[in-house]
Amino acid sequence: MKTSLCFLVCLFMCSLLSVGSLSGAPQASKAPDGEEVYKTNCTRCHNTPPALNERQSRVVVAHMRVRANLTQRDANAVMHYLAENARSN
Ligand code: HEC
Repeated sequence: MKTSLCFLVCLFMCSLLSVGSLSGAPQASKAPDGEEVYKTNCTRCHNTPPALNERQSRVVVAHMRVRANLTQRDANAVMHYLAENARSN
């Protein structure tokens, strides 16, 4: 009897823990930040982000996505980041 109560308590604690880690999930699944993606993936081989127009950045990201091994979501984020960056130059 005592062991089964302990088991139930453990089960309860485990479910609390997993709910706790799930509540952090929405943050991880929000749209990736293009600047962050660039810094973590592209600065390995490049310095500052190049000034490209939207069409150029689309072509570049299509190529560099393979080199940097980006997901589609990350690639989209970088593309927008590069295009915005070019507009402000
Ligand atoms: C593994 C190294 C590597 C990674 C990672 C990488 N690149 Fe490149 N990139 C290159 C090389 C090498 C070239 C030269 C052209 C070619 O061979 O495709 C290049 C060319 C470019 C060019 C063309 C203009 C230039 O500077 O020559 C741009 C713009 C560019 N990369 C942007 C990016 C972006 C944005 C990312 C991140 C998504 C990225 N690169 C990730 C290696 C890399």
